[in-house]
Amino acid sequence: MLSIILAAGKGTRMKSKTPKPLHKVGGMSLLEHALATAADVKTGKSVVVVGPAMDEVAAVAQLHSAEVSVFVQSEQRGTGDAVMAAREALLANAGSDVLVLFCDTPLLRPATLKKMRDALDDGAHIVVLGFEAVDPSGYGRVLRDTSGAVTAIREHRDASTEELAVCLCNGGVMAFRCPDLVGILDRISDDNAKNEIYLTDAIEIALSDGLQVKAVICAEEEVMGINDRRQLAQAEAVFQDLARQDAMANGATLIAPETVWLSFDTKIGQDVTIEPNVFFGPGVEVEDGVTIRANCHFEGAKIGAGATVGPFARLRPGAVLGEDVHIGNFVEVKNVEMGKGAKANHLSYLGDGQVGAGANIGAGTIFCNYDGARKHRTQVGAGAFVGSNSSLVAPVTIGEGAYVGSGSAVSKDVPPDALAVERSDQRNILGWAKKQRAKMAPEKP
Ligand code: UD1
Ligand code: CA
Repeated sequence: MLSIILAAGKGTRMKSKTPKPLHKVGGMSLLEHALATAADVKTGKSVVVVGPAMDEVAAVAQLHSAEVSVFVQSEQRGTGDAVMAAREALLANAGSDVLVLFCDTPLLRPATLKKMRDALDDGAHIVVLGFEAVDPSGYGRVLRDTSGAVTAIREHRDASTEELAVCLCNGGVMAFRCPDLVGILDRISDDNAKNEIYLTDAIEIALSDGLQVKAVICAEEEVMGINDRRQLAQAEAVFQDLARQDAMANGATLIAPETVWLSFDTKIGQDVTIEPNVFFGPGVEVEDGVTIRANCHFEGAKIGAGATVGPFARLRPGAVLGEDVHIGNFVEVKNVEMGKGAKANHLSYLGDGQVGAGANIGAGTIFCNYDGARKHRTQVGAGAFVGSNSSLVAPVTIGEGAYVGSGSAVSKDVPPDALAVERSDQRNILGWAKKQRAKMAPEKP
């Protein structure tokens, strides 16, 4: 099966410098959602049709998979014309089934595409995806005869009053098994209100050739199109709701699910408890039995089994927490691997390095990883104890089992089991405070 993803539309209503296909839902671009859905039904090759000057979109498509090829539709003359922009791919894959997807419906489920494919297997030459719209205005209407057979799709602007009353709408996705699809597409005219070449007109031409058209019906939520920011937010809300339900179905407790934000690839194990207000950016994996306390922000991080994180913790890309690690409030971890049972419970920045098993990082410890030009690594050995308010100036190694005295700025390696103290000696001046108080006593009136 060849899938063709249409992404050449201007997306004017987004009012954005970013092309519509690169806006995100659940942390993934709309274009990648379409590519991933197509890949899920194991279509072989994918084609993405972009507009001129959409190099950024083309680059994302090509990065997604080597199986993707990009075609440019030079003028936005409608969805039928957009498919024809990939004429070369259609001819090269003559005989294969063709699936046409829009890149602005990210909530489409692979199971629905499988149903469309089954309908092709059952003998349909064209399968359209319909849904009952609460408010059909703007959508193309799926017209049927008295026996229920699809006869045409009529765009809103071209529809008669009678046709406008139809609530079965076109979700946009179409599947084809036509002996001569190119021949059909070539016959579509632009004789309509928008003077566009509508892909949907393929239906009437196919029927007149004696081919069969069927409709598969899905929920409106699935084919909700994104044309502006309000719809983008609505789609995000639906996505989040589904992702939270998945997490709970897999055995996580979300105390206030509506306040937990997940990404398309968030992995959450069993018996994970998530307190309110937690944000998962892309690339986060949480193993079983983890407790995530309120108000945390994560991206590109792995949290090992039994760990406790937060409240108010930030895990950035490359944070890898081993089993039973404790990360407490106002701790930021970036590109640091922490061994089993290591702890950083308060007010710290750990960037670029490694913390051995069972090590304790005291309150206010900073890994000084950046010298203004380059990043350097800090290694803290297993079982080491870093006293509060210490600066570890990278590159630096604290040996296994070593101690760092509180308030030290450590810039030289510390051997295993040694104590490093870097601060001036303390002086006690006996009786000073008492004298001072006497001096400061208020004058008698
Ligand atoms: C389209 C359907 C309509 C359906 C609705 C569902 C047609 C003629 N109409 O209308 O029946 O109810 O989607 O959301 O198919 N695109 C191009 N090149 C073009 C025009 C569009 O690549 O020249 C792409 C867009 O980037 C977009 C998709 O095709 O991904 C759909 O285009 P859009 O203009 O949003 O179509 P609708 O008017 O919403
Ligand atoms: Ca649309």
